[in-house]
Amino acid sequence: MLNLILFGPPGSGKGTQSEKLIAKYGLKHLSTGDLLRSEIAQKTPLGLEAKSLMDKGQLVPDAVVIGMISSALETNPEAKGFLFDGFPRTSAQAEALDKLLELKETSIKMMLAMVVTEEELVSRLLKRGETSGRSDDNNEGVIRARIAEYHNKTAAVADYYKKFDKVVTVKGEGTVDEIFGGLCKEIDSTLD
Ligand code: AP5
Ligand code: MG
Repeated sequence: MLNLILFGPPGSGKGTQSEKLIAKYGLKHLSTGDLLRSEIAQKTPLGLEAKSLMDKGQLVPDAVVIGMISSALETNPEAKGFLFDGFPRTSAQAEALDKLLELKETSIKMMLAMVVTEEELVSRLLKRGETSGRSDDNNEGVIRARIAEYHNKTAAVADYYKKFDKVVTVKGEGTVDEIFGGLCKEIDSTLD
């Protein structure tokens, strides 16, 4: 299996690049943000609980997202591999993911970490907020809170995978195709 983590702060292009990567490499896309927004749209109790935290730019509890990923892994037994987008976001989530993959006798091949300056992140997300309807995009304070959560809790996840020499950094600014080219180059170099 080819299991990849696409990593980066809010607005770094994880969702945009995920669509292209799953098409090229035949992977199953698992975005915890998308899974949570689908729970919100269906007005489930989990969705309602998550919404109040997401609207403030805060992370939802580890147990919630770990549970969602665990069932997604179970319901996709035929997948050639998974592309994790927006997960893991805490060290506890990273450890849980390793254990879940171990049960499937597989592991993370690499973490692709996209680097984008904070001002570019804020400008991308404010621009998307004009049309996306995402309630966490239309307020600069909430966008900055999401970036602060990233620095306080999520950046350390890269250190976790660095211990296993699994992290590669990729330029996250430029055109979508240029960035995609950089990601593919790194992935292809591990497939040889
Ligand atoms: P999530 O949905 O994961 O949002 P995020 O990390 O804040 O990031 P985004 O999805 O906004 O950005 P992205 O990196 O996917 O970039 P995109 O491609 O969209 O999480 C939302 C919330 O859910 C969290 O705040 C938290 O509350 C909760 N949550 C989710 N997972 C969790 C977890 N594991 N644990 C706990 N809580 C969790 O691009 C952004 C914009 O930029 C788009 O408009 C795009 O068109 C544009 N763009 C993309 N590439 C380029 C480019 N090269 N040049 C110019 N513009 C570009
Ligand atoms: Mg996203």
